[in-house]
Amino acid sequence: MAYDVVVIGAGPGGYTAAIRMGQLGLRVALVEERDLGGVCLNWGCIPTKALYSATKLIERVQDAAGMGLSFAAPKIDLERLAAWKSEVVSKLVDGVSSLLEANDVDVIAARGALAGTGRVSLSTGETVEAQAIVLAAGSVPVEIPGFSFEDDGLWTSTDALELLEIPERLLVVGGGVIGLELASIYNRLGSAVSVLEMMPEILPGIDLDRRTIVTLKRALTAQGITLRLGAAAQSHETTSDGIVVKTRGDADPITADRVLVAVGRRPHSADLNLGKVGIEPDRRGFIAVDASLQTTAEGIYAIGDLTDGPMLAHRASAQGIRVAEHIAAELGKDAPAAEGDAREMIIPQAIFTDPEVASVGLSEARAKKEGIDAVVGRFSYAALGKALAMREPQGFFQVVAERDSGRLLGAQVVGAEASNLIAEAAVAVAQGLTLSAIAETVHAHPTLPEGLKEAAENALGRGVHTVHR
Ligand code: NAI
Repeated sequence: MAYDVVVIGAGPGGYTAAIRMGQLGLRVALVEERDLGGVCLNWGCIPTKALYSATKLIERVQDAAGMGLSFAAPKIDLERLAAWKSEVVSKLVDGVSSLLEANDVDVIAARGALAGTGRVSLSTGETVEAQAIVLAAGSVPVEIPGFSFEDDGLWTSTDALELLEIPERLLVVGGGVIGLELASIYNRLGSAVSVLEMMPEILPGIDLDRRTIVTLKRALTAQGITLRLGAAAQSHETTSDGIVVKTRGDADPITADRVLVAVGRRPHSADLNLGKVGIEPDRRGFIAVDASLQTTAEGIYAIGDLTDGPMLAHRASAQGIRVAEHIAAELGKDAPAAEGDAREMIIPQAIFTDPEVASVGLSEARAKKEGIDAVVGRFSYAALGKALAMREPQGFFQVVAERDSGRLLGAQVVGAEASNLIAEAAVAVAQGLTLSAIAETVHAHPTLPEGLKEAAENALGRGVHTVHR
């Protein structure tokens, strides 16, 4: 079998690259051993967001009494909830499948590995040949000593999303993104949730300012989630009372009915037979790429979680488009020429806790560390009409800009709909827009995006709804 391009891995990076290359007239094979859509669609972003929105409703209903609306206590039909979540996933996976078909991409159900330059060996025993290869095999969860995923009572995020039970006591090991999102979901479902984080703060891997972290921590604690910081999970044993987890750095062991381990992910690069073409991953397993996402082996590209950077679906998809257009142009097709280094795209991040946390570009602390003369503006949700009308007064908007030019360098939003609100700031940071550009753009009233405009005005010292001293 011979193609123009073979893509290994059908997650948000690989399937996007395959579709785009199909659109540009290339003959593409997409090799995937599991389900189309990868971790994000099947066992990550999408099922988590389905459960996020369902459980947010529980919380909204419980809070509605303050608006004069009372409901009976929610009854949770776990089977139906799980089925609905699976329906959402299936719809999207079917959509990906139709798009691949419509663009004449051959989907090959097999595990793929490199067999040489331009050659991919399949677990079915066959070999496919192509002029270019895109590695998009994603990442897998990290296992820590003493906590094997085979052990009874231990959950990966995939197990937690199966929704087979609501444990009475859930211990989450890892106060990162996955840990906090699933802690919030199970807390709303009724579990007593504790989070164990070995670093002194939650979300240590993300460039967030202290104020943002403190706001989130306060809210999580107020919701009844116990945060145990500076305590690393060390070992566990099953007793008649449950699973007892011993920690380093925090004296008391913790007993729980289920333990979810979410201590990070690592690139899924070990099975790709990289040595066959002389690619050497770094000690963490990441594959080095150049500005066009080409590896050290000519004609072999790597995208998404296999490459160093935030492990986010939208980074993978954006790289998928870049690599697709680059390869198409290389192979003589009429493709748009991408500008800039594909490793340095501006990547926003959204964390689906309550309140949501979203960020793009530099934090205030990072700007300071880099010696930038920066100006900061903030605006509180509590001063926004729309936020109060939604009964969502928690949180704030923050913008960081270069003092002289006013160019927006970064933004953080913690509060309701932060995940949606960060898009405007992402456009501004990516396109080099200034505080004035945001402040002088008329925003519809009453809406939440007015908060970003107010924060920009605040940074400029001219916010009408802020008292300037
Ligand atoms: P993570 O790196 O965000 O967090 C793992 C946490 O576990 C770290 O804070 C680390 O200090 C802690 N840890 C490690 N060993 C420990 C131990 N022995 N005891 C206690 N704590 C320990 O990784 P996570 O949450 O597993 O997520 C993996 C990737 O998936 C991340 O890179 C994230 O960007 C991505 N993701 C993004 C989402 C989003 O953007 N909404 C949602 C879910 C995942």
